[in-house]
Amino acid sequence: MNYSDWLKRKGLEYREDILYFAKKKTLDIAKRFGTPLYVINEQMIRERYRSLKNVLNHEYKNNQINYAVKANSNLSVLKILNSEGASFDCTSMGEVYICLKAGISSEKMIYTGNMFTDADFKFAVKNNVFVNLDSLSQLNRLVRIHESLGKEKKAISFRINPEFGAGHHKHTITAGKDIKFGILEQQAIEAYRKAKEAGFEKFGIHQHIGSGVINALDFGKPAEKFISIIKKIIKTLDIKFEFIDFGGGLGIPYRPEEEPLDLESYKNLVIKPFLNLLEAEELGEPIFKIEPGRFLSAESTILLTQINTIKDNGFKLFAGVNAGFNTLIRPTLYNSYHHIIPCDLKGKKREFEYDIVGPICESGDILGEGRKLNELKEEDYLAILDTGAYGFVMSSPYNSRPRPAEVLINNNSVYEIRRAETFEDLLNGQKVPEHLK
Ligand code: LLP
Repeated sequence: MNYSDWLKRKGLEYREDILYFAKKKTLDIAKRFGTPLYVINEQMIRERYRSLKNVLNHEYKNNQINYAVKANSNLSVLKILNSEGASFDCTSMGEVYICLKAGISSEKMIYTGNMFTDADFKFAVKNNVFVNLDSLSQLNRLVRIHESLGKEKKAISFRINPEFGAGHHKHTITAGKDIKFGILEQQAIEAYRKAKEAGFEKFGIHQHIGSGVINALDFGKPAEKFISIIKKIIKTLDIKFEFIDFGGGLGIPYRPEEEPLDLESYKNLVIKPFLNLLEAEELGEPIFKIEPGRFLSAESTILLTQINTIKDNGFKLFAGVNAGFNTLIRPTLYNSYHHIIPCDLKGKKREFEYDIVGPICESGDILGEGRKLNELKEEDYLAILDTGAYGFVMSSPYNSRPRPAEVLINNNSVYEIRRAETFEDLLNGQKVPEHLK
C-alpha cells in the first residue's frame, strides 16, 4: 500500500500541505480545544465494525463481536458500537459499570476477568452479567455467590489457555504454560465436569491468545489446539456449547510499511476450522464469538500535540511536545511504534532526524525515536496516529499533569466528549488528617 493510501485508510490526508482528519483541518481542532487532545473519528469505528461483521456474516451468520472495552471505554465510543449492534467484553466491575451507564444491556456483556474476587462475582451476578472463569478454583466461589444471592445458575464458561500465544510484545502474549491466564488442557475436562455437577446447564468456552497480532498466521496453531481441547470436552462430557469464543488480538498496521491484517487468512485459520468442528461433531449452531478491541478503535483516533521546544544538544535534535508518557504510555511501556506526522508541512522542505519527547521528568519519555521529519519549529502541531486503543485509558496524571480532553468528529462537527482535567481534579478524593490541617 502506498503511503497516502495508508494514511487515507486511517481518515488522514494532506490538502495543500495541511493535515485533515475525518475531513476536518487538524490545526483548527488543535487551536479550538487545546492540546494534548485525543480526536476520535466516529465513522472510522463504525466502518471497522461493519467491515469485520461483514467478513463474519459471510462465513457464518450466528456470530457475535464482543468489543473489548479495555481498549477504549469512553461512553461515546461504547454508544457508537452499541448502536452498530456490538456486544461487549469487560474485564472489571468498572467496565461493567461504564457499559451499564452507556445503556448497554447486561445480556450483551461477558465478564472475562482474571484473579476474580468475591466482590467481582457478586457485582456480576447481581447485574446478570455472564462470567467467564479464569481458574478452576473460582467455580465453587461463584456457585456459593449464586446461592447466597438466590440467583439461578444459568450459564458458565471457562477461559482456556491453549499454550500457543502471540502478541506485539512479551507483556501482551496471554497464552503459554508460564502465563497467568486461563486453564490448561489437563484441567479443562475437570472444570466443565464440576460446572455440570454444580448445576450449570449452559456452557460457553473461550480463549484469548494475546494482543496486537498483525500476522494472521499466528492465530492458526492456537485455534487448532483450542479446537482439539473442545473436542475432548465434548467427547468426555456430552456438553453442548452455546458459544465458542476465539478472543481478540487482531492487529492494525501501526507502521507505514505494514499491511492491514490479512482477514482472508484469519478466516482460513480460525473460522474455517470452527466450521469444520461444527460439522465433524454435529454441534448445531453455537455462536461464533471474537472480542477485538484494537482492531475496532485504534485507527479511529489521533493524539494532537504541540511542540514547545526544539533542542539541538550538539549530538541530537529533540522536539519537545506537550504530550508525554502520561498521555500515551505505549511507546515507553512496550517500545510501541506510533507514526507521528506534522499538521502543517507548508514551506518545510528540509528533513531532519528528531526524537519526539514529552515533558515528563524521565529519560524514557520518548514518543518517537529517530523520526525523519520535515523541519519542525516551536509551536508546530503534530499528530500521533492510531491512539484509539490503549491510549487515553492507559493515561495517568503522573507528574501532576491533568489528563487531556477527548473530542469526537461526526458529520463534520466536533464534540467535546471528555473535558480536560483541571488542577482541582488532581486533588480528587484526597483528605488531609486533622493534625496536618
Ligand atoms: N479479550 C481479552 C480477554 C483480552 O485480555 C484482550 C486484551 C482483548 C480481548 C482485546 O485485545 P485486542 O483485540 O485489543 O488486542 N495495553 C496493551 C494491550 C493489552 C491487551 C490486554 N487484553 C497495548 O497497548 O498494546
